[in-house]
Amino acid sequence: MAAGTQPPPSHRTATGVRSPGRAAIAARHLRTDRWWLSPAATAAGLLAFVAYSTWRAFANADYYAAPYVSPFYSPCLAENCVPMRGGPNADLFGSWWGLSPALLILVFPLGFRLTCYYYRKAYYRGFWASPPACAVAEPHRAYTGETRFPLILQNVHRYFFYTAVPVAGILTYDTVLTFRDASYAWGHAGLGTLVFLVNIALIWAYTLSCHSCRHIVGGRLRHFSKHPVRYRLWTWVGRLNRHHMLLAWASLISVALCDLYVYLLATGAFDDPRFF
Ligand code: FES
Repeated sequence: MAAGTQPPPSHRTATGVRSPGRAAIAARHLRTDRWWLSPAATAAGLLAFVAYSTWRAFANADYYAAPYVSPFYSPCLAENCVPMRGGPNADLFGSWWGLSPALLILVFPLGFRLTCYYYRKAYYRGFWASPPACAVAEPHRAYTGETRFPLILQNVHRYFFYTAVPVAGILTYDTVLTFRDASYAWGHAGLGTLVFLVNIALIWAYTLSCHSCRHIVGGRLRHFSKHPVRYRLWTWVGRLNRHHMLLAWASLISVALCDLYVYLLATGAFDDPRFF
């Protein structure tokens, strides 16, 4: 180690940025830009979504306004769900479930997002400052990454991807149902139809841009030349994957707006403008 770069004695047994072998720079960072803006905005955005979605998930009300069902409550898996003609009711949990039916289903999309590679980066930076930004030392003395409990559980992301696909399929079905009017006649559309179409497009784009999806379609191959279909799929997913962060935010906002739209209709605060 070059003279002058020896870490202070108190830090020699630590891991992370103060560990032996790392340059002993006294300053926490040398950045002169407003590096804190991005993690602060990320934390604020995520907190806003968590507050809104928690309120709506526990509300157990105002999640259906024919023909629209909130994505937070679909599929509705308990007997206490409101009747939705032709809708995503599947009474798997019977009458013993007395809490909000949203809690039964949200665990899957929530787990998918919580373990998402992008969101991990976002909340590690926004809430845990680990690290808060590129080239800014984290305040923690030790660093074990995701090699120990509980963060090693982040590896279940692939399995949440498997659950996210059928959930997206059911939300697609809900979107098809929006081509009915309030009396369930087919061949109609309103502003809500447009809201649902945008939302489902973003949900699918986010889901298919997943890093696990890219590995599932194109991983563990020795020769792409012998698997042209998988190679084609891998290139498509790769193109989406480049925009994963953008899609993560866009779909998060769209799913909340979709729920809000249904809430406003269900509470009578707003009338769905009909196109035809
Ligand atoms: S990596 Fe983000 S959803 Fe899979």
